[in-house]
Amino acid sequence: MSSLPTPSMLRGLRKRVSDRGGDHIDGAGATDAGTSRCSSRDAEREDMETPQACGGARRGQRALVRSTSASSAISQLSLLSNPNLSLLDSDVKIVEGSKDYPVIIVVVGASGDLAHKKTLPALFSLYYHDMLPHQFAVVGYARSKLDREKFHDVVRSHLVCRITDRDTCERKTAAFLDRCFYFSGQYHDREDWRKFHEWLTEEIEWPMIHKQQQRLIGANGDGGGGGGDVQTERVPGRLFYLAIPPSVFADTLGGISSEAMAPESRGAWTRVIVEKPFGRDTESYEALRDVVSSCFTEDAVYRIDHYVGKPLVANLTTLRLGNFVFDVLWNRHCVESVQVVFKEDFGAEGRAGYFDSYGIVRDIMQNHLLQMMSIVAMDPPASPMAADINEAKVKLLRDMRPLRAKDFVIGQYDRYRAEQGVPPGSTTPTFAACVVQIDNERWRGVPFVMSAGKALDEKKVYVKVTFRETPNHSFVPEELQDRRNSIYIEIQPRPAVELSFISKVPGLTGRVVPTKLDLVYNESFVEEARDMPDAYERLILDAIVGDRTLFISDEQISRAWSIFDPALKEMESAPPMQPALYAYGSPGPILPETLIKKFLAGKMSSS
Ligand code: NDP
Ligand code: BG6
Repeated sequence: MSSLPTPSMLRGLRKRVSDRGGDHIDGAGATDAGTSRCSSRDAEREDMETPQACGGARRGQRALVRSTSASSAISQLSLLSNPNLSLLDSDVKIVEGSKDYPVIIVVVGASGDLAHKKTLPALFSLYYHDMLPHQFAVVGYARSKLDREKFHDVVRSHLVCRITDRDTCERKTAAFLDRCFYFSGQYHDREDWRKFHEWLTEEIEWPMIHKQQQRLIGANGDGGGGGGDVQTERVPGRLFYLAIPPSVFADTLGGISSEAMAPESRGAWTRVIVEKPFGRDTESYEALRDVVSSCFTEDAVYRIDHYVGKPLVANLTTLRLGNFVFDVLWNRHCVESVQVVFKEDFGAEGRAGYFDSYGIVRDIMQNHLLQMMSIVAMDPPASPMAADINEAKVKLLRDMRPLRAKDFVIGQYDRYRAEQGVPPGSTTPTFAACVVQIDNERWRGVPFVMSAGKALDEKKVYVKVTFRETPNHSFVPEELQDRRNSIYIEIQPRPAVELSFISKVPGLTGRVVPTKLDLVYNESFVEEARDMPDAYERLILDAIVGDRTLFISDEQISRAWSIFDPALKEMESAPPMQPALYAYGSPGPILPETLIKKFLAGKMSSS
């Protein structure tokens, strides 16, 4: 960082702070010696000896009690999780209001695939678009021994400027890297987390506070790291993004909560972003949940399903609930079937070790497809706020009939067993399709087909709502009588909404043809589509500003497992269900339409 204070400046600043009996150095900031970092951490040591993965929640509660005297003053300082934000609030507006709240984003597992491909580029893009707080730092944490320069090289190689001239791109890249740091540590080692906390406080946090101090006392200006209208000092919030395998979640959460929390007593928050997979069944999810909840309160945990942040998925709610024409059609009287389909044109190459122990049902269906289906099928929430949307989704998940193996068709692409890391006789499905039934007034009897496959003939994700047969055939030529109106929503790669219907061709003939009305994002939102944010950008930004609307609650995940558990158990218990082999690059063993026909003809046993 170009304007880092010297160690002696920092010592002077720290002394001034401690002379005043606490860490707040603004006149208004109430201080409470009992809440200072050192004393509170010392008092907390006993918790580290507990056999639990962590004692953070209890400790958090104690910290809260201890800091009560300061809480009214510091409440102005922190940007807490905000339950009042709703789907309709504009990111830009919220972000403008939050820019004066500094943040440190710690990417745990910064040497890995997700961090390189998604998390770090998303953070760069947010910075590029001026959406991050004025003061921020990105800190990589992983076991790999990298120095800052090497970390920069790796990060740089994954950054992309979506639209820009080369000069701006280079300037912004350099400025972003200037805010990127790296710390090498083990996930299970509390001592490493303790050292990390100290390093973070000394090397990152204090310089940020120092800059604010400089601004407050009018000395030397912002120096490039600060900005905005700061009236009081703000200790940076810490957002831990866990880009690590589930096997090290518990140790990591324990290390963070016992050693590396932001000082809550000084108004700073700590949040963790947790990635799917959230366990591999109810039992393992509950074990994970117990660890998480012993370390963090629910409102500090942001469970990401990146599909929920995709622009078209985010638009599903508006589309169906904000438009009268769709709203009135959205029920069993009008809808014949619904498809939620995920197709990838590549296999498990490079990730087969992970994939083989999860399979397509856990990797895609239980989370991404179920989330999309929930948005399509939930009853209208009472409001666009997070709590109401969650309630509507949970109710729907409760109404879904648990799945059995007989509801599924599963497949495996022919080359799968040759992938590195796949055991010879693996029966892990790389394709699965099933019919989900919803036992409520709105949807009883309507088949919802979920279909997901790797190594198929194309890369495409879509939702298709097919309406019932038109009651009046007099205006429909015989050859088109099988056709149905449908709404097709392509999530990717070409975001679009299409309404299909038949139409008479103009002219003197009576020719009637299938046709459609469409909204293609690239054509209708030309400017925006050129620079469409990635789902991760939106979700990380939401976590920074405390907007939980698009994150997945504990209850949703529990319900999701109870829907899929019975089928998974049946499929995996000896002898396991055998997947049908399909050729790499083919459409897979069954098309969604075929499954729907079978169901409607009563040929599936799931009724
Ligand atoms: P990686 O396998 O790349 O692991 C990330 C980092 O974790 C590695 O760089 C390594 O860092 C450390 N690590 C890997 N294996 C172990 C191990 N056995 N024990 C301890 N540390 C280990 O994973 P991804 O980045 O692909 O995924 C991270 C998480 O995100 C997972 O939960 C995954 O399911 C989820 N996810 C990934 C997606 C993706 O596209 N990759 C998409 C959606 C979710 P080091 O050795 O330096 O400590
Ligand atoms: C991940 C799955 O969650 O989503 C991967 O683990 C899959 O198997 C990926 O490839 C698909 O995400 P996207 O955004 O590329 O469609």
